[in-house]
Amino acid sequence: MHASFFTARLVALAAIASVVSGQSVLPARCDRNVTVRAGDTCDAISAANSVSTYQLATVNSGVIDSACDNLYIGEIICLGISGQDCNVTHVLQTGDTCFSVATAAGIPLNTLLANNPNVNSNCTNVYPGEVLCTASQIYVN
Ligand SMILES: *[C@@H]1O[C@H](CO)[C@@H](O)[C@H](O)[C@H]1NC(C)=O
Ligand SMILES: *[C@@H]1O[C@H](CO)[C@@H](O)[C@H](O)[C@H]1NC(C)=O
Ligand SMILES: *[C@@H]1O[C@H](CO)[C@@H](O)[C@H](O)[C@H]1NC(C)=O
Repeated sequence: MHASFFTARLVALAAIASVVSGQSVLPARCDRNVTVRAGDTCDAISAANSVSTYQLATVNSGVIDSACDNLYIGEIICLGISGQDCNVTHVLQTGDTCFSVATAAGIPLNTLLANNPNVNSNCTNVYPGEVLCTASQIYVN
């Protein structure tokens, strides 16, 4: 038997154990986490935890797919990375514009756009229920 054989088995067993316990491997320096419950959607999790739609997707790239249809009950997901964790947010309502959201938050439009790189420069690709980071600090570089 080779050591690499045992190492591979241990890695496999650890992976099985983590799936059974609902413990996905969280990214390094994860600031906050949440356990997925029945009926959760990505934007519902974002709204409930003050995480932007962009941040939730970015922090969980490779874990949550782009359509967000692979969440499972008991899954533990990271909400933000320490030092890059915007927790000041706004859930878009019908009729909101980027300008109105930025104005209400008291921040420049450019700050809103910088913190939400998924939003195009004329803000035509947003939707009600989307969660935007409205912090005055810029978190996304
Ligand atoms: C998830 O967050 C809780 C605090 O809310 C913490 O005690 C726990 O260690 C975190 N889990 C992981 C895997 O980091
Ligand atoms: C938001 O993050 C800041 C900085 O990490 C922290 O001081 C504050 O308590 C957080 N607010 C909430 C509501 O979690
Ligand atoms: C909005 O901006 C995007 C790029 O951010 C551009 O492709 C699109 O043509 C613009 N639409 C309008 C109506 O200006």
